[in-house]
Amino acid sequence: MKMLSLVGARPEFIQAAPVSRALRRQHREILVHTGQHYDYQMSQTFFDELGIPTPDYNLGVGSGMPGKQTGEIMARLEEVALKEVPDLILLRGDTNSTLAGALVASKLHIPAAHIEAGERSFDRRMPEEVNRIVADALADLHLCVSEKGVRQLAAEGITQTAHFVGDVMLDAMLSNRPLAQRRASHILTRLQIHPRQYALVTVHRAANTDNPHRLAKIVEVLNQIHEPVVFPVHPRTRQALANLGATFASHVRLCEPVSYFEMMVLEENARLIATDSGGVQREAYFFSVPCLTLREETEWTETVAAGWNRLVGVEPARVLEAWQTVTIPPHHPPLFGDGTAAQKIVALLEQDEIRYGATDAQRRMHSPIIELLGSIH
Ligand code: UD1
Ligand code: UDP
Repeated sequence: MKMLSLVGARPEFIQAAPVSRALRRQHREILVHTGQHYDYQMSQTFFDELGIPTPDYNLGVGSGMPGKQTGEIMARLEEVALKEVPDLILLRGDTNSTLAGALVASKLHIPAAHIEAGERSFDRRMPEEVNRIVADALADLHLCVSEKGVRQLAAEGITQTAHFVGDVMLDAMLSNRPLAQRRASHILTRLQIHPRQYALVTVHRAANTDNPHRLAKIVEVLNQIHEPVVFPVHPRTRQALANLGATFASHVRLCEPVSYFEMMVLEENARLIATDSGGVQREAYFFSVPCLTLREETEWTETVAAGWNRLVGVEPARVLEAWQTVTIPPHHPPLFGDGTAAQKIVALLEQDEIRYGATDAQRRMHSPIIELLGSIH
């Protein structure tokens, strides 16, 4: 089979690593990078560290308003899809790259598979929520990180095509942990921190960065903590903190976004993690590190139910109370599969009847619109 894998933002690169490895054992993968993330620390570092193949195409869209960014990805991806005529487009998550990929696949009648399907925050003001809903509505195959994802899709009427495969982020963590420990433990020395004697913080959600009141509250909380705080700053957040004129006490160690291996070491050794990231909430769980989520809702409610994650919002009193009273729950059920999600995904892609013909001519017959548009193009 010929698959077109679409990636564009930091977590998509990390997730692409195990899937790409599993896919390429038997199939042809065309890797397309939309260019949504482009700084070395937001993009190339993951390809270098994780050995992700060089993308066959980089659409180079860069940053922009959501409509323009999504539209540019669509226009450029459509050209690639018409040229490559893949059997399937593989999407993940909930970024503008995901949304654009789902729309292009649908318009060209190319089947689409969605990794991380079925997750919902039930807050449609969150840009990612709209992206997920559209991607799931259009996808032909839904690959879920959690059992809850399958149930949520069923509640929306999507049943036959939804499968629990587990989290490819867990695959990535398990296969890279020993290497990360060997190659990136220096990060603790560089930041002058000791295992279990610091907190790790990440913030990048639009709801926290684009709202100066919320961001100011997060700054206030971090300044009041009585332990070292390591805060690798997403470029979006760096800009928002600068606009706010935020200043930090000396125990808050701000740094550039760190590499995946460095992040693995920082997460595994933290006493606690406070974040608004979806991936980091799950990774905190993988490493059995308690997590405080700086949001009012989360998609990853099973980590909350298991007692490892607390939704604390950004009100300083509430966050500080949770920070000081954090405990290690007695149980740690395997919520996100067994670290073989990538293999399960490839097996489903092979089994599924969305499999099309092996030649370009056969694929074109299945997609008259590709035939038509390809001839105009
Ligand atoms: C995007 C995703 C979000 C995901 C996150 C992962 C959407 C709607 N959001 O959010 O779901 O959790 O990626 O990190 O797709 N910037 C740089 N350099 C870069 C990339 C971004 O400076 O390499 C700055 C730009 O000022 C840009 C801003 O960050 O405008 C936001 O980037 P964008 O990709 O639009 O959204 P993220 O906040 O990164
Ligand atoms: N990450 C990283 N370096 C950082 C911050 C995060 O390598 O400085 C990794 C993190 O370990 C996780 C992924 O990036 O694997 C999460 O991405 P992000 O928080 O940007 O997006 P989200 O998961 O919220 O979509």
